[in-house]
Order: sequence, then C-alpha cells, then structure tokens
Amino acid sequence: MTTRITIRRPDDWHLHLRDGAMMRSVLPETARHFARAIVMPNLVPPVVTAEDALAYRDRIEAALPDGADFTPLMTLYLTERTEPDDVQAAHADGLITAVKLYPAGATTNSQSGVTDLKSVYPVLERMAEIGLPLCIHGEVTTHDVDIFDREQVFIDTVLDPLLRDIPELKVTLEHITTSHGVDYVREAAGDIAGTITTHHLMINRNHMLVGGIRPHYYCLPIVKRAEHQQALRRAATSGHPRFFLGTDSAPHLDAAKETACGCAGVFSAPNTMSCLAHVFEEEGALDRLEAFTSLNGPARYGLAPNTATLTLEKRDAPAIYKAKYDTPDGPLTLFDPGHALHWHVVD
Ligand code: NCD
Ligand code: ZN
Repeated sequence: MTTRITIRRPDDWHLHLRDGAMMRSVLPETARHFARAIVMPNLVPPVVTAEDALAYRDRIEAALPDGADFTPLMTLYLTERTEPDDVQAAHADGLITAVKLYPAGATTNSQSGVTDLKSVYPVLERMAEIGLPLCIHGEVTTHDVDIFDREQVFIDTVLDPLLRDIPELKVTLEHITTSHGVDYVREAAGDIAGTITTHHLMINRNHMLVGGIRPHYYCLPIVKRAEHQQALRRAATSGHPRFFLGTDSAPHLDAAKETACGCAGVFSAPNTMSCLAHVFEEEGALDRLEAFTSLNGPARYGLAPNTATLTLEKRDAPAIYKAKYDTPDGPLTLFDPGHALHWHVVD
C-alpha cells in the first residue's frame, strides 16, 4: 500500500483571494501548498482593466508571507465595456493569464457580468487571435431554468454556439459539476479544458440538504446528484489532459454564510491537498494525482510545471486542520469533508 507520494508542487487554476483583511487571512493558506493560482477578478468593484489587475497583483504580492514561493496569475473581469486593445496590451505585458466571463447575475459579485454575449464578440475574437484563454462560469441565469440544470443549459445554448462561432477561442469551462459538463469537455471539437473543484469531488446535494441544511456546502454551481459527483471523480482521476484542479476556494465570513440568505462559496484552500489525496486513493488513482494538480494545468496554459515538489504521507493519526479561521472581521469556516483525512502534507 502506498503511504507516501511526492508530486510536483500543485497550482490552483481557479481561486478567490478577495482583498484587504480577508486576503491577508487566506493568502498564506494557498501559498503554503500552491506555487501559482489563477486569481478570480470578482472583487467589489471588479478587476476590469489592466490598471486594476496591476494594482490588485501588487496588493497580493505585498500581502505574501516572507519567503513564500507563490505567483498570482491575474485575470480580467469581462464586461460589455471591455476594450480589446486593453486586453491585448495586458496580455502582451504578461500581466494577465486569462479573461473571466461571468454571465450577469450567475454568482457572487457578478452584477457587472455579460448579458449579451454577442456584444463582447470583438473582445473574444481578439483573444482567439492572440491565444488568450477565456475562463467561463458556465451557467445560464434565466429565471425559468432550474438551478440544477443551469450548467447543462449553458453548455447547450451558449457555450456550444460560441465555440462554433469562434472555434479558435481557448476556453476553460470552470468548476464543472455535471456528467454533461464532463462529457462535453472531453468530446468537444473546440479548444476546451475543464476545471474541477475539491468539494464537488467530495460532496453531492445529499450532503448539503439531508438531515438539515448546511450553508457551508452551498456554492455555485450548486452541488448536484451523486451520479454527477461520480462522473467528476472519474474525470479528475482519469489523467485526461483536459481536466485539472481549480479549487474555487471562495471564502465568506460565517456571518455571510449562516444567515437567511447565505452567500455561495466554499473555503477549501488549507485542506485541499489532503482531501484530494483521499479521493484519489479511494479511486485507486494516486498515481494520477500529479497530473490533475500539477501537470495538466500548466500544459494547458503553456507554462512549465513547477520544479519544486510537495510530499504527502498517509498516517494513522488524522491530519488536524482548524475548523475555523479567525479574520479581523470574524470567523471563516473551512470546508468539512465529513470524515477524517489521513493524508498529511509533510513537505
Ligand atoms: C464564488 C465567490 O464566492 O466568489 N462563489 C462560489 O460559490 N463559487 C463565485 C464563483 O466562483 O461562482
Ligand atoms: Zn469561483
């Protein structure tokens, strides 16, 4: 039985670092295990221009603990006023790694997102020309579509037509949550990849709703049926180059989660690697953990994999993670996988 594995240092291809005090609380947790992360731009107000991204990157770098080996990969929040030239210049300067499409109203802080996709075609066509990836929150927001169907309807009615209209566009369909998403990413003719979160591999909607409602499992896209969780597990552990890790670690204070109308988001950065080793071991695929966390993502983004390594060891005693993190504005709850985690990050 394998009880120790060493992999190249992982990267997180979808992360929310927030800003200010919250950023200072959560950034060290990601920097401890991850070498790079694609940083989501859904601040209030959002990171829209190259100038915004530069200033945000400076704030992140200033908040890094001494000696941390972590590079934030910046993104721009696509709006109907985004200028193709601004995007191209930010890409040429090496400032941004991707542009993020939020359908307006799809999730936390997406009010400034896109309502009419055609209105951003000039930006998307420019991105296709220069090879800049588009990261997509793939859910429709029309009120007549059931929340559990929003991903599938998005793929069929928005994403597939988009990839036909602009076939050279490099797309990352983020945080896929359904077997439909898995099948689409694997089979589509377009230049597409998909990220999968830690929590969607570990929980399904029963965990969130049976025996009481668990607000800390509420996230978007919402967790689906167990059969979808199984499809995600098969995809993540398959080694297929189109699938890789985007934790979507998305901290919200307990006061914002444990309330009559709670925010969407799961904070998983600290224990993600222990969780993933657990999942990959359960699936008999520990030898493919590195592909998912450390190889497929860089290959997709045209970057070299990290040369530093991370070692995990399985021990009889469970790994201890704090249930709650203290921030200056109040407590923040860590993702609870619902059982002990025996894989420790040791190095
Ligand atoms: C994210 C957040 O809180 O910013 N929430 C979430 O449930 N995933 C936004 C997002 O990625 O959808
Ligand atoms: Zn997210």
